[in-house]
Amino acid sequence: MSGVNEIRSTFLDYFKANGHEVVPSSPLVPRNDPTLMFANSGMVQFKNVFTGQEKRSYQRATTAQKCVRAGGKHNDLDNVGYTARHHTFFEMLGNFSFGDYFKEQAITHAWTLVTREFGLPKEKLTVTVYSEDDEAHALWKKIAGLSDSKIIRIPTSDNFWRMGDTGPCGPCSEIFYDHGDHIPGGPPGSPDEDGDRFIEIWNLVFMQYEEAAGGIRTNLPHPSIDTGMGLERVAAVLQGTHDNYEIDLFATLIRAIADMTSVSSDGPMKASHRVIADHLRCSAFLIADGVLPSNEGRGYVLRRIMRRGMRHAQLLGAKEPLLHRLVPALAREMGQAYPELLRAEALITETLKLEESRFRTTLARGLSILDDAAKDLGAGQKLKGDVAFTLYDTYGFPLDLTQDALRARDIGVDLDGFDAAMQQQKAKARAAWSGTGEAATEKLWFPLRDRVGATEFLGYDTETAEGVVTALIRDNAEVESLKAGETGFVVLNQTPFYGESGGQVGDTGMITGAGFAAQVSDVQKKLGDIFAHAVKVTSGEIKLGVPAELTVDHTRRSTIRANHSATHLLHEALRLVLGDHVAQKGSLVSPERLRFDFSHPKPISEAELAQVEDIANAAVLRNEPVATHLMSVDEAIASGARALFGEKYGDEVRVVSMGTTEAGKAFSVELCGGTHVSRTGDIGIVSIAGESAVAAGVRRLEAVTGMEARRQLNTDARRLRDLAGLLKVPAAEAEARLAALVEERRKLDRELTEARKKLAMGGGGAAEDPIREISGAKLLARAVTGVEMKDLKSLADEAKSRVGSGVVAIVGVAEDGKAGVVVGVTEDLTSRFDAVALVRAASEQLGGKGGGGRRDMAQAGGPDGAKAQAALDAVAAAMS
Ligand code: ALA
Repeated sequence: MSGVNEIRSTFLDYFKANGHEVVPSSPLVPRNDPTLMFANSGMVQFKNVFTGQEKRSYQRATTAQKCVRAGGKHNDLDNVGYTARHHTFFEMLGNFSFGDYFKEQAITHAWTLVTREFGLPKEKLTVTVYSEDDEAHALWKKIAGLSDSKIIRIPTSDNFWRMGDTGPCGPCSEIFYDHGDHIPGGPPGSPDEDGDRFIEIWNLVFMQYEEAAGGIRTNLPHPSIDTGMGLERVAAVLQGTHDNYEIDLFATLIRAIADMTSVSSDGPMKASHRVIADHLRCSAFLIADGVLPSNEGRGYVLRRIMRRGMRHAQLLGAKEPLLHRLVPALAREMGQAYPELLRAEALITETLKLEESRFRTTLARGLSILDDAAKDLGAGQKLKGDVAFTLYDTYGFPLDLTQDALRARDIGVDLDGFDAAMQQQKAKARAAWSGTGEAATEKLWFPLRDRVGATEFLGYDTETAEGVVTALIRDNAEVESLKAGETGFVVLNQTPFYGESGGQVGDTGMITGAGFAAQVSDVQKKLGDIFAHAVKVTSGEIKLGVPAELTVDHTRRSTIRANHSATHLLHEALRLVLGDHVAQKGSLVSPERLRFDFSHPKPISEAELAQVEDIANAAVLRNEPVATHLMSVDEAIASGARALFGEKYGDEVRVVSMGTTEAGKAFSVELCGGTHVSRTGDIGIVSIAGESAVAAGVRRLEAVTGMEARRQLNTDARRLRDLAGLLKVPAAEAEARLAALVEERRKLDRELTEARKKLAMGGGGAAEDPIREISGAKLLARAVTGVEMKDLKSLADEAKSRVGSGVVAIVGVAEDGKAGVVVGVTEDLTSRFDAVALVRAASEQLGGKGGGGRRDMAQAGGPDGAKAQAALDAVAAAMS
């Protein structure tokens, strides 16, 4: 009897020996298919190879593919635990031919492997073919020698395999194993085919078509082969059981659960053991592939699965969180075949533990509400929808958990009532929004959100992905298409583009698809979770419902990441240098720079800034990992995470931590939804570019990182070198040299002013001042050039002291021909002469108006310096 691990290798080795490339399983989250939530079969990763869009270096491949069938077209969640063969997570073994061999060889390989390698007796095997597929019928007869009664024609869609609503598809042929007539059930196609006797173990799909939206089928470029064998099923057959949960792998997990809970796995609690074992596998593999529990999309499917498992742990009487303690057993069983499980073991353990600890706080209370509400209900009756909604909304019970809890008593849930309660809550949220008066939001985005739901953000893990266009907007209205040259918004079911939030700007990049391309210039979040991609269509036409390839501008995103992570480092560094009162008040993280405002009452000194920069760069140089965890706000705050002012947080937050301190704690821990580098070293360098005040008690810091920092620092260094060159000194002496030059220049300026004044007033004071006597008072009147207007007053002061008692009038003519005039009257004469009146008389001659000052000193000016003498004469005239 072979264990699961040997069966897997036997399969892969067989096809390897027959010229197939052994290709690793793709991640559970399909990167190349927006229509699928999870990889649901082996062919998903080869979808584009079948259609000819993608070329590989091989034409035959074989895989053991991780699959999840929970959510979407293939959804087995509700049955898990209660049947012998349903799983949310399972492994599919497959062989593929991309235009190489077709039906004949596919059937030959399948028959050889099943009967020779696995040694299953021919008489236990039955096959089906699509009713119109005579060729396959004949081949089975020829190759396997099966009688007509063992080759059953199936006319239904059961024998036409489709990946989803769109994608490659074709007729198929299935191999069934007969567990024996002691088990109830009939052969495929018979009325009691649903019994457990005949079990399908392998599906061979003859891939021939591609189905587009609307059911239109076109031929694939080459007929191809896609097969899928459920590893758990074939293991059951080979291990002599018809129950998948009895195979070695599950037996080990279930034994671990029984040991930990001391509850027998064979008694009445059998289903709970199975649910836990299945959901543990599914959760662990999803987490390893980057899915984290959330309230939307894939994250919500994960949460539903985890919580469903956790309720069953509670049913087994587990007093403490249980699932995370099973991770080592799972890693032992499956880690060798799937190393990602070992790599992510710590994350899986931590995520399971957190979710279970959290959920336990509301689980017991929710269950007692459920018990109360259902106690008078009998089989076939329904729980009120609003109770199910309260459990969902307030106690975190996914609907299927409530349904599962009522299943044993055959009680259903009033789903219409549940939906009505959900609608009512949405209407309330909408009413609350209407108050803000945003008409566009009210009219456009609310109905849109009701229809298409939230956009799933994939951009923490990837910068490229496919999405399906769910809405197009032009001029504030929904449209069917956007054509080349038009601008508008594109909404898709999922996106790797970051929508502006938390200070981080939206991503830019490209959206392309069959016959169209558009440039994304920005992404804004509407109503919190719809990502509106602002686009300009550059070619073709984007239509509603089409798949599109989304590519984020990688370089730009990388610098944004670096700037965002640097913001966290600087924030912590500022706190260390300036004190605990430093709290971020808002920020901008763009590709060019980062800027953030924080509380601090006074300017920051150069020395403090240098220290902040040193601390941040030391953290960069330690090149420590940047880790992200999901938790409740309360847990996050309890863990020391810094919440940012003015941010609105949901019940669940991402906590980003960077580096470690000597005490072993993270250097920086913040609540943050932004995108970050994976190690601090990726920031390269942090350079503070400016510090200023924005409001009382709020300072602003600006900084650059990486290449931009290097560019700016280099530019500064080059300027210094050029400057030193001009000064003809080594760079290190440039500053002192420049300071000396500035000082020297100041001194020279002073000397020059003095010299000019002296020269203007007759040179060195040697020449006599032209003094006249008017009305018994002295008038010193002079026109000067080469003196700055601001110096005229001091000239007048000097002249006043020279005359002792009298009036002085000085007209200064500037190089451009304009003139200024100053009139001074010594103190003893101010009762007779008013400098203001005299200066006005002068300025009138100069073509000026007005003039002002006091009785002892007044100043005016005018455009016409050529009239300097006339102005002086006017003063004399005014005195007489
Ligand atoms: N893709 C086929 C299946 O999943 C083989 O059954």
